[in-house]
Amino acid sequence: MHWLFQAVVSASSLHLAAGVPAPPKPESIEVIELPLPPVVPTNDTGDFAPDGNHIAATVEFIGAPVAPHPASIFTGKQLILIKTNGGSFSTGDPWKCLSCGVPSRNARSLDNARDYPHIARNGQQALWGHNILDCGDIPLVSERCTPDKVHIYPIYWPTGANSSGIPREMRMHPDDKHMGWSAFTSGGQNAYYGQLKFNQSPENGTLRVPRYDLVGVNLLANPNGTAPIMAQGSELKIYEQAVHVGELRGFSGAGDEILYIGPTREANNIDLFAVHIITGVVRRLTSHPEYADPIAFSHDNQWFVTMDTRGSNRQMWMSGMRHIPPLVDLVTVTAAASTRNNGARRFFQPILIDRYGDRGDYFGQHVNYAGNGTGGSANDPNWNGKADPAFSPDGTHIVYWQSLVIPPACGGSNPLRCPVSTAQGGRTYRVMLAHLATRKPIAPVPVFDAPDTIPWATQFLPGARLPNVYSFPPGSYTLLGKHSGIAKTRIVKDLLLDMIKMVSVEYSNFSDDGKHYLHGHEAVALELSASDPWLNHIDWYSDILQTGTTNASKKTSPEGFHLTINALENIFEANGTLTTTVNGVVYKQPLNGA
Ligand SMILES: *[C@@H]1O[C@H](CO)[C@@H](O)[C@H](O)[C@H]1NC(C)=O
Ligand SMILES: *[C@@H]1O[C@H](CO)[C@@H](O)[C@H](O)[C@H]1NC(C)=O
Ligand SMILES: *[C@@H]1O[C@H](CO)[C@@H](O)[C@H](O)[C@H]1NC(C)=O
Ligand SMILES: *[C@@H]1O[C@H](CO)[C@@H](O)[C@H](O)[C@H]1NC(C)=O
Ligand SMILES: *[C@@H]1O[C@H](CO)[C@@H](O)[C@H](O)[C@H]1NC(C)=O
Ligand SMILES: *[C@@H]1O[C@H](CO)[C@@H](O)[C@H](O)[C@H]1NC(C)=O
Ligand SMILES: *[C@@H]1O[C@H](CO)[C@@H](O)[C@H](O)[C@H]1NC(C)=O
Ligand SMILES: *[C@@H]1O[C@H](CO)[C@@H](O)[C@H](O)[C@H]1NC(C)=O
Repeated sequence: MHWLFQAVVSASSLHLAAGVPAPPKPESIEVIELPLPPVVPTNDTGDFAPDGNHIAATVEFIGAPVAPHPASIFTGKQLILIKTNGGSFSTGDPWKCLSCGVPSRNARSLDNARDYPHIARNGQQALWGHNILDCGDIPLVSERCTPDKVHIYPIYWPTGANSSGIPREMRMHPDDKHMGWSAFTSGGQNAYYGQLKFNQSPENGTLRVPRYDLVGVNLLANPNGTAPIMAQGSELKIYEQAVHVGELRGFSGAGDEILYIGPTREANNIDLFAVHIITGVVRRLTSHPEYADPIAFSHDNQWFVTMDTRGSNRQMWMSGMRHIPPLVDLVTVTAAASTRNNGARRFFQPILIDRYGDRGDYFGQHVNYAGNGTGGSANDPNWNGKADPAFSPDGTHIVYWQSLVIPPACGGSNPLRCPVSTAQGGRTYRVMLAHLATRKPIAPVPVFDAPDTIPWATQFLPGARLPNVYSFPPGSYTLLGKHSGIAKTRIVKDLLLDMIKMVSVEYSNFSDDGKHYLHGHEAVALELSASDPWLNHIDWYSDILQTGTTNASKKTSPEGFHLTINALENIFEANGTLTTTVNGVVYKQPLNGA
């Protein structure tokens, strides 16, 4: 690592650690359900308009709404605005469709990605998947914004000859100008950052219609940086400040940090991180053993809300024992992440956490804690959160989506009986508005002056090649506990594929913090499918005991634990068991298919 970069990192980290305040107390939150037109669910959610009284959402209409609407225009995926203040538009509806009935000359060659709608802070543009929708200089919420005035433009990434994969999950910076996204290649997932530039009459590229180009692209990886885990002689080194933005999740409220799902810090515990856009300082935002994924910051930059499985015990059987270094993760991470869902059923709920993140005994609070836990109440676990939640600009409200568990994730051979929807019209999804009842409206902080070129990243011009990533040499290594003990580790590779296929670890009184000591062993082998890159089969053997301030065990049945899971399908199928027990509380894996 470049020494100057290292120096900046250390100084800022110290400053940061010194400034972390005591965790906040739980607060009072009231949750209501918003009205919706007759639509079917999509997998993603809305975002507030700058006035705080509307949210944008992607929906798919089923049948046409009644007059005065011309029926024919309500087909396919559409972008709508929904009033959050109980008011209505001039049609009398609490919603209005922004993308319906837009003349085809105003919407040419749209990108099929129509997910994660986001309204620009200027109120005049919406990011709609991989498209930008505007109404000229008329605010999107205005009655004057009629279909004939709407334009929708595709976003185009001129990657040139050497494709870097198809962009996914684009997110807009609060400056309304910069964008972040991720893309998969056979080598894994990378993240990018660039600027939006309108191109009225493109003269190159495959898409010759008015479009927004992604220009000045940065690959969010430091060419001189370290990998999160590296071999140094016979020792393993873990670099917590290694910037490794796998799946980008957006930006902080001020836009000074990039949010992402990062390399695990503890075995099988998938978390959110933030990296400062200038200094490259990495902060771990979540540390609860459960799985965190979608995230949104408040505009004052002081809070975030994440969609997380915490409270559901979905992942505790493999992640419940804390402070295990992330060594088996070299082979388990995809399978571990994949067990978070059961098919289309996610186990997410919205969790409110202050900007400093989980720490000590503080793990934020459920936004939807209220209710009796059944019958469609706010905390009914059969209603599961989807991506992305959002804060109102004044910080007093949070919007999130949920869908009700439906077959085959319930009913049939599944022990969970299918619940009857309590939502309007028997819908199996709902939009929820949470009021942070004790909060006063706050002003957003000024938007961070985001650079075009990120100092710690890699410029990525069209046609550029992805840099080679660190290739772990197979062999036997020692990881020294920061406080005491050692972890003897063996790493076996498939040399043909240049992939790690087995990790075994023997812990001898291993402790990083002098409070949690690990004893015992864990070995996991990964088998990838030749025909399907998403299919993982793992053979897992654990017998770890934790002593110190926590008594815990992580143990497989005598024949081991064998899991097959497809990362796109998320159906749990295992033989044998893996069980984690923490201070007498036993966490068991899900039943197959449940
Ligand atoms: C939602 O995602 C599931 C898979 O997770 C997919 O089968 C379904 O088609 C998606 N629905 C929509 C409306 O995009
Ligand atoms: C494509 O055209 C744009 C202007 O429309 C220009 O800036 C860019 O350099 C061109 N790219 C290539 C690869 O020719
Ligand atoms: C739980 O709350 C829901 C609505 O919030 C209500 O419809 C249901 O009857 C309640 N169930 C019980 C058992 O109290
Ligand atoms: C990486 O190192 C090279 C050579 O020292 C230097 O020119 C370059 O600026 C560095 N890049 C980053 C992003 O630190
Ligand atoms: C694409 O990558 C290859 C090496 O894989 C390189 O030789 C070639 O110049 C690159 N193409 C462009 C357009 O940069
Ligand atoms: C583990 O290390 C701690 C601290 O160094 C020590 O007090 C304890 O006796 C050791 N336990 C074992 C089983 O070696
Ligand atoms: C852990 O076990 C030891 C020995 O049985 C016991 O003394 C200690 O109280 C236990 N600690 C906790 C947190 O349960
Ligand atoms: C479980 O065992 C059965 C019978 O041997 C086998 O067919 C199946 O593939 C195994 N499943 C996994 C996930 O290992």
